Amino acid sequence: MTTMEAPKKQEVGAVGLGVDRVDGPLKVTGAAPYPSDIGFPHLAHAVLVRTTVAAGRISVVDTSEAEAAPGVLAVITHLNAPRLARGARTILGPEPPPPLQDDRVLHYGQYAAVVVAETFEQATAAARLVHLSYDPGDPLLDPEDPRVVPKSNPFLLDMKRGSVTDGLEQAEVRLKATYVTAENTNNPLGAFATVAAWDGDRLTVHDATQWPYNVRNCLAAAFRISKDQVRVLAPYVGGGFGAGLRTWPHVILAALAARRVRRPVKLVLTRPQMFTGVGHRPSTVQHVKLGALRNGRLTAIDHEAVSTAAMEDSNMESVTMGTAAAYACPNMATRDKQIKLNIPSPGSMRAPGEAQGNFALESALDELAYELDMDPLDLRMRNYADFQPQTGLAWSSKALRECYQAGAERFGWRARDPRPGSMRDGHVLIGYGMAGVSYPHYQSKCAARATIARDGTAYVRSAATDIGTGTYTVMAQLSAELLGLTMDQVRFQLGDSDMPQAPQAGGSGLTAALGTAVHDACGRLVSAFLDLARKDDESPLRGCRLEDVVVAGGRILRASDPSRGEAYTDILARHGLSELTSDGNSAFPKADIGQLVGSLAVSRLGRLGSFAVKATRATVPAGAFGAKFVEVRVDRDLGHVRVTRVVSAIDGGRILNAKTARSQIIGGTVGGIGQALFEDTLTDMGTGRIANATFGDYLVPVNADVPEMDVLFVGGPDPATPVGTKGIGEIGLVGVGAAVANAVHHATGRRIRRLPITLDQLL
Ligand code: MOS
Repeated sequence: MTTMEAPKKQEVGAVGLGVDRVDGPLKVTGAAPYPSDIGFPHLAHAVLVRTTVAAGRISVVDTSEAEAAPGVLAVITHLNAPRLARGARTILGPEPPPPLQDDRVLHYGQYAAVVVAETFEQATAAARLVHLSYDPGDPLLDPEDPRVVPKSNPFLLDMKRGSVTDGLEQAEVRLKATYVTAENTNNPLGAFATVAAWDGDRLTVHDATQWPYNVRNCLAAAFRISKDQVRVLAPYVGGGFGAGLRTWPHVILAALAARRVRRPVKLVLTRPQMFTGVGHRPSTVQHVKLGALRNGRLTAIDHEAVSTAAMEDSNMESVTMGTAAAYACPNMATRDKQIKLNIPSPGSMRAPGEAQGNFALESALDELAYELDMDPLDLRMRNYADFQPQTGLAWSSKALRECYQAGAERFGWRARDPRPGSMRDGHVLIGYGMAGVSYPHYQSKCAARATIARDGTAYVRSAATDIGTGTYTVMAQLSAELLGLTMDQVRFQLGDSDMPQAPQAGGSGLTAALGTAVHDACGRLVSAFLDLARKDDESPLRGCRLEDVVVAGGRILRASDPSRGEAYTDILARHGLSELTSDGNSAFPKADIGQLVGSLAVSRLGRLGSFAVKATRATVPAGAFGAKFVEVRVDRDLGHVRVTRVVSAIDGGRILNAKTARSQIIGGTVGGIGQALFEDTLTDMGTGRIANATFGDYLVPVNADVPEMDVLFVGGPDPATPVGTKGIGEIGLVGVGAAVANAVHHATGRRIRRLPITLDQLL
């Protein structure tokens, strides 16, 4: 359970407590330099020009007026841009194609030019003077266009076990339904920005990225320089939600502009440009078939999803794979398909794929529960997957049962009268809905470096990012614990590609990856001190190995006799050293190919071939689990839906910081309310223009839309990694859509199978 009490002074730094963010004061006072705050002497400003058609060719680019405008330093178009190589494919799929390479138009809002000027205002004014003419093509915009052919997602595996045909035949109750989710757009508060500066062939870039290493690699590829000639800095990022996982064309254009004008250049996306330039959650159409016995036992699950992709891009959206791991059903099949449209590139948005797939599956289960006249919670318990259902292997840990129990109790689920429309408060209809969540485990390789200096303070770093999740804070807590120091003796730094390699802050996987690397680095650092002390007659630690000691109060102590030990500072002083440093690494936890293929982590790993299980170990690293309970109040006459209560019960493994962990679940839940009731990126079918690309038109939940939210953490440390975490960055969002839709059905008797749920669907 979450405890929100302030830690006692001497406990500050202890892992698990609700310690305040170490970067909080910097952020609330405006002192944290976000990429858009970075300045240089002689800084020039770049502004983008975008196409106003969605397909065809640019026939004329007239830049003469823009070039003559006051303050303009350069206008770069496909006619004068150099050839830029595309970055290498990563674990998340291909990188977007580089910009300004030819005259073809693939979506409305594609970059056609970049104008560089002395000031932002001059660049903005001149950008309006770039005149484009087109040979327009006939864009594919409508997923229902007969010319559109769904194809298997090349980066995902379809899953199968048993025979769905047989399972549906055995079923006493069958359900077949289609669910639709809208496009949603990542809208971090911090506008994406890049500031690029060249020094000869060396490039330094400040960027709003979730993955400095990948930006470094892509820029090195684009400009054909070596990776160590590029440095990417992202110490503060104003949110990401997946938008910062790829190296988008504007990042390359900022660097290109800086090279062209031989000055540092700043490029800040406008809010409308954020709707076309940094990805969005693709829309889906999902077909679900369920078969069950009268007692609720599932005999078949079939889940097919079609999601949208951009014409010459691809995306790893794994909409259905969560379904394969969710329930103990012997006959199961999933298929993930994509359709290519003339739309801006979709990409990861918090809980990519799972957010949409869970809505369909958990809505269908609710529908089945009504068919069976069974409580929706009991139906889920009846089909509880004690083992990973796709492999039959044990989970490393799973407390979903406890999530259901604790969540139901806190919410008061059992007081629910199951009859739709039965709970009322005057003209307001009240509904209770719930959903279960099984989130995949995902962990990449990561490195970290830890140093203890002569003054007894530690410095730990890795090229990771903190996108608002609390990485700075939890890693400082963890480092302090592992080194036996207080938090104010530890400096944790990140967001610099010159630091040891780190993966993306994404997939809910960074804390496990970075935490494991920090664990390894700190362990090795203590070992390095012991190497000095081991043969030292003067040391009370003589002869000790890592397993023989504990750390506390800046000292290494004999575990068997904590009165004997010595301080890091004493060891350094005696050996005449100013500091000692060690490197640590993490890889996928206890991996073998059977586990990799067996666990849902495969969804992010791409082509691993067949689904053969060659497991030699008996467990599958488990991701987080959760149960969502939602109360809605629906105005009977107006169809207006309000979410009035949410209880989230989460098995997140070991919780490193009760406060930031709770914030992650709350923030995710707000995102889920957005997906359920508000967010809907609308494409104008005539032109391909995003019709609501501003905060005035694109609805997100505001304070008045967000109720009190209860967060319960259940379960304990997961043994798959030494830090015991499971990753909770995304699970807060998942399940909200289905729980809201299920609650709306309970309130009104109307089954809404399309998100967001809007007034018109209820009237
Ligand atoms: Mo997350 S959508 O993997 O940043």
